Amino acid sequence: MRIDIITCLPGLLKGPFDQSILKIAKEKGLAEVHVHDLRAYANNKHKTLDDYAYGGGAGMVLTVEPIDRAISDLRSQREYDEVIYLTPDGTTLTQNISNELSLKGNLIMLCGHYKGVDQRVRDHLITREISIGDYVLSGGELAAAVLADSIIRIIPGVINNESSALTDSFQDNLLAPPVYSRPAEYKGWTVPEILLSGHEKKIEEWRFNKALEHTKERRPDLLD
Ligand code: 6GU
Repeated sequence: MRIDIITCLPGLLKGPFDQSILKIAKEKGLAEVHVHDLRAYANNKHKTLDDYAYGGGAGMVLTVEPIDRAISDLRSQREYDEVIYLTPDGTTLTQNISNELSLKGNLIMLCGHYKGVDQRVRDHLITREISIGDYVLSGGELAAAVLADSIIRIIPGVINNESSALTDSFQDNLLAPPVYSRPAEYKGWTVPEILLSGHEKKIEEWRFNKALEHTKERRPDLLD
């Protein structure tokens, strides 16, 4: 998989993709992320990317031309499955959406800023609009990092233990059960006896019941 992120703040995306699971995905050749500075596609001598909104009102708008040039440049090099715009009024991201996108080959993610982008970008260049939740961020960069992480980590082979990503919270509409590791007792804080029993079937049953209990308590909406 290849993800190309177009942004006017590339510095915000420098860190996340060189650490942990995303780094492993890159080293294994399973996923690559390329960050593109929108400013490289600015056409005027001041390299401005935004302008006043027609009709007035507060806030600047990212203009259509540099974004069109950036997306066209990428699309002239390879086919893309989706051109995603990260925006608080997009479809709210769910595990199902990440699962679906993890099966794609090449993705473009466009990060918005200020008041957003000229509507013509959304009407003519974007195939899908995604939000990461009901709160507002100052730009789409952190949302793009969240989306890319959630997609890349479930590409088969990225996480060593094949089953690991499938037992996450949300993968079967259940929150994950609690986990414990050594020591079996610390400051008198103990680990549930069943987990030390070696009884695989009973442990699986216990985990399922805990997951169900946990979900009923915290996210009953997931069980509807
Ligand atoms: Cl995708 N962008 C911004 N700016 N804020 C958000 C968001 C995206 N998702 C949730 N809040």
